[in-house]
Amino acid sequence: MEFFNNHKILFRTALGLFVGLTIIVAILPAINNQENNATLPNAIPLNERAILGKQSFIANGCVACHTQQVRNVDMDKIWGNRPGIAADYAGITRTDFWRNTATLMGTERTGPDLTNIGIRQPSLAWNLLHLYQPRAVVVKSIMPAYPWLFEIKNEVGKAEIEVIVPDNFRKGINGKIIATNEALNLVAYLQSLKQTPLPDGKTPLEFLYKKTKEQNVGNGNNSILPDGQMLYTKNCVSCHQANGEGLKGAFPSLKGSSIVLGNDLELFVNIIMLGYDARPEYAVMNDVGTINNLTPEEVTAIINHEKTSWGNNAKTVSLDEVKKIMDFIKITTKK
Ligand code: HEC
Ligand code: HEC
Repeated sequence: MEFFNNHKILFRTALGLFVGLTIIVAILPAINNQENNATLPNAIPLNERAILGKQSFIANGCVACHTQQVRNVDMDKIWGNRPGIAADYAGITRTDFWRNTATLMGTERTGPDLTNIGIRQPSLAWNLLHLYQPRAVVVKSIMPAYPWLFEIKNEVGKAEIEVIVPDNFRKGINGKIIATNEALNLVAYLQSLKQTPLPDGKTPLEFLYKKTKEQNVGNGNNSILPDGQMLYTKNCVSCHQANGEGLKGAFPSLKGSSIVLGNDLELFVNIIMLGYDARPEYAVMNDVGTINNLTPEEVTAIINHEKTSWGNNAKTVSLDEVKKIMDFIKITTKK
């Protein structure tokens, strides 16, 4: 048979088959994938600082302990508003010619997932202090400290940012602890990590394997307010700590605080919804309540929890009072 005796024909046939199959099995599907893959229309690309911060995230090995993927299971609900989809990663391109795409989805969740950390913890002061010394804000944290992202200087220069570190973590340091550019880039990257909402009109994605615990939402009656302690843990504990005593030199104590115990409810609600930056010896509190979309029921429950915990023993407030103030804030801050 000519086919088996002529090595040229044999070779060309084999080569043709190989190339044809490669195109059908690998190349066409890849092109198809590439064409059908796009970021969500409202996705915000990383800015210059955040891109540098991402390099630093890679260089410091953060991905060893932190994932960036919200799996489609109910237990992952706390890490995002919806399960992750392919489009969330479509904007990520090769790092450079020599290095492959770094999605940073991660495989190990020793620390919390960071998909939505820009929403959950937007505070610059908290993030810098946490990178400088995680134990200063989370007592039992096992996250390593990253002191090489900070410098000690005698003066705070123009455009430099001092990290407010509680006294017991400043031992042996005489001078100001200044965040390096790398630290600021890294935090800019963390602040940019926000799950992009699906475009309007898209049916929301559901998490699978739902637990059947109904959330308890109040409707004007104090007796069915949500759990204030749980809400405090979720929204306030990272700075004011579980014992309500805050961190001396960074976050004020709510135990014995004249604002918490006092009767100026408007100030209290304003602090929660709009943030607070009244004193130089403390860091800045951002608009925690607005960012987390706290409802009047939730704010009331948090306030009452703070008024009656850690030895605090003040009169509780009613949902109606809080609601009135929140409605007013909504009107005055409407853009
Ligand atoms: C050895 C594992 C480990 C490494 C490496 C690590 N972390 Fe963490 N991280 C943790 C743990 C555990 C926590 C939870 C306790 C805490 O908040 O400190 C955490 C918490 C965090 C949080 C707060 C998350 C939240 O939901 O409140 C941020 C932000 C964070 N890490 C960023 C980083 C960055 C940036 C790096 C790299 C520079 C890094 N981590 C490296 C283990 C790690
Ligand atoms: C990112 C850190 C952070 C988070 C989270 C946070 N706070 Fe604050 N809070 C601060 C800082 C910093 C101050 C002091 C600001 C100043 O005085 O300049 C403050 C001040 C306060 C005060 C005034 C206390 C006093 O006596 O001066 C109250 C009340 C308060 N916070 C309540 C809350 C509540 C309620 C929550 C949760 C819904 C919360 N905070 C979440 C950082 C935070």
